[in-house]
Amino acid sequence: MLNVHDFETAARATLDPVYADFIAGGARDEITVRANEAAFSGLRLLPRMLRGSAERDLAVTLLGDRADLPILLSPTAFHKLVTPDGELATARAAAAAGALMIVSMASTVAVGEIADAARAVGGDDVSLWFQLYIQPDLEITEALVRRATDAGCTALVVTVDSPVLGANERNRRNGLNDLPAGLYCENLRDLRDGESGHVRQIAMSPELSWEHIDWLRRTTSLPILLKGVLHPEDARLAVQHGVDGLVLSNHGGRQLDTVPATLELLPEMAAAVAGRIPIVLDGGVRRGTDVVKALALGASAVGIGRPVMWALAEGGEKSVRHLLELLHAELDDTLALCGASGLDDLTPELVRPAGWGHA
Ligand code: FNR
Repeated sequence: MLNVHDFETAARATLDPVYADFIAGGARDEITVRANEAAFSGLRLLPRMLRGSAERDLAVTLLGDRADLPILLSPTAFHKLVTPDGELATARAAAAAGALMIVSMASTVAVGEIADAARAVGGDDVSLWFQLYIQPDLEITEALVRRATDAGCTALVVTVDSPVLGANERNRRNGLNDLPAGLYCENLRDLRDGESGHVRQIAMSPELSWEHIDWLRRTTSLPILLKGVLHPEDARLAVQHGVDGLVLSNHGGRQLDTVPATLELLPEMAAAVAGRIPIVLDGGVRRGTDVVKALALGASAVGIGRPVMWALAEGGEKSVRHLLELLHAELDDTLALCGASGLDDLTPELVRPAGWGHA
């Protein structure tokens, strides 16, 4: 395993192709899935030399939480589909690597158990955020927020790009429309109506509006990030509504197909928020050079989704840890080659569009 791509190749050798499609797939023609990665290839790095970058610091502080590297684990559902320990494996690996994990609301282990596993490895310094789909039943949403807060999660990442579920035609063709027997969205276990042991389904809610964000802002004192806002005008509204950060994400191309690559939107989005709140970018980040490009153009950190799933499928906890160590080393090496000593040295002049004549 020398790089992120190797984990996918190795995982596919043993993984049920139905689950490989679930991980790799996106909405409709998967135009945005491809665009995310292609956008990084469309930029070149123009490094500085002779800057004395022997000591390099990759640590980042986001909304008060410190991480050893600016690469977060974006929220991904259903880790037990690919490894028996599920999210416990992911959380232990992230804690060992000093990485910040965003726990998916659709995790197959309850958030409290995930947090305990992370702390058993990384102690009280471990930071976990919780990804939330606001449920039309606000009492259910409140109960979920309480579970995440009680587990010690320090921020809420509210995914807003899913008023309805994205149309993944691979899953439809494969007949994958439910979790296999014995796997559940454990965060929704025993939430109101019904006998104990009952697990609700996650509801997507087309009725969601900024009023729900205002309601959540009143309901919790945790920082709130919005994940999936793509229009600069919505970024400005987010700031006006007291949101604390954005995850600039198109859900890895899994919701609306043909939206722009997140990297293409980053300059406009950074200009819209004008440094008032941090931006975490995800979608197509596969290399240390990708991280540098995103940070140079104004992201405070990046997130990775599929790479973590492939590593989990390939070898569980130890492989996720290995993946994060590889990315950490790649980023460190890229910083050195760019003449940078820290993340603050990554500025827009480091990046140019590919092609001739951009002097
Ligand atoms: C996701 N993503 C996602 N997002 C979210 O807010 N809640 C979720 O439960 C999930 N689940 C999920 C499952 C799988 C298998 C994938 C691949 C993705 C989207 C995820 O957080 C992230 O935005 C993208 O995965 C980032 O793009 P890359 O790194 O996969 O290219």
